[in-house]
Amino acid sequence: MSNQADAGPEITATPYHLGIIMDGNGRWAKARGLPRAAGHQAGVDNIKRILEHCVQRGVKVLSIYAFSTENWGRPPEEVSGLMRLLGLTIQRQLNELHKNGVRILHSGRLEGIHPQLQKQILHALEVTRNNERITLNVAFNYGGRAEIVDAVRHIIRDGVRPEDLTEQVLSSYLYTADLPDPDLIVRTGGEWRLSNFLIWQAAYAEYYTTPTFWPEFDENELDKALIEYGQRE
Ligand code: IPE
Ligand code: IPE
Ligand code: MG
Repeated sequence: MSNQADAGPEITATPYHLGIIMDGNGRWAKARGLPRAAGHQAGVDNIKRILEHCVQRGVKVLSIYAFSTENWGRPPEEVSGLMRLLGLTIQRQLNELHKNGVRILHSGRLEGIHPQLQKQILHALEVTRNNERITLNVAFNYGGRAEIVDAVRHIIRDGVRPEDLTEQVLSSYLYTADLPDPDLIVRTGGEWRLSNFLIWQAAYAEYYTTPTFWPEFDENELDKALIEYGQRE
């Protein structure tokens, strides 16, 4: 622990719901002469550290962008590697996440994901559904536009009358129906894009980007984002 005098500005506000676009795994690996898959593994390993730090800082919901609908366009070996990685991570980490009071949610389309992996995802949601320490919302096979299209389809199927359709009603048809909107979106890897992440929900969110690649985005980096968030409010 460094003493307060050289600690610089403090965190003066905490986002209830933090969204993170975990970008830069590939570049992180490349800079080390490693295959991209090693970057994705390092990226997964980093989730635990940031999730725990979120708990320490009082964040109640962490949404992470893990696989976008556009990511299907990557080389097939990379796509299958990312699918396998999610399955393995659920296998290896579910017990510990559950023990640590983490409620897991999924945002995204289950359709299109291998049936075995779908089962694993649903199992993870079921096991952790009553946990309250923090919510980890995993955006996987997620696209903000696809989410809105899915919501509108569902609304039409339910026979909602045009005059009854409000922003609130539409929100309640999104994958994130039970969650408040994100207060802060952080993107690692230096880009200034949302890349189709929570586009409806983040309409009023603060946005923060850092050139740091996701695998090396640590507690201190998160604190920097939280400090800036506090200064904006
Ligand atoms: C983000 O890292 C992880 C996923 C999109 C799955 P990237 O794989 O996009 O890494 P860069 O942007 O190529 O460095
Ligand atoms: C955003 O990163 C998606 C995820 C982090 C899962 P990408 O690397 O896929 O986004 P673009 O291609 O830079 O927009
Ligand atoms: Mg990228």
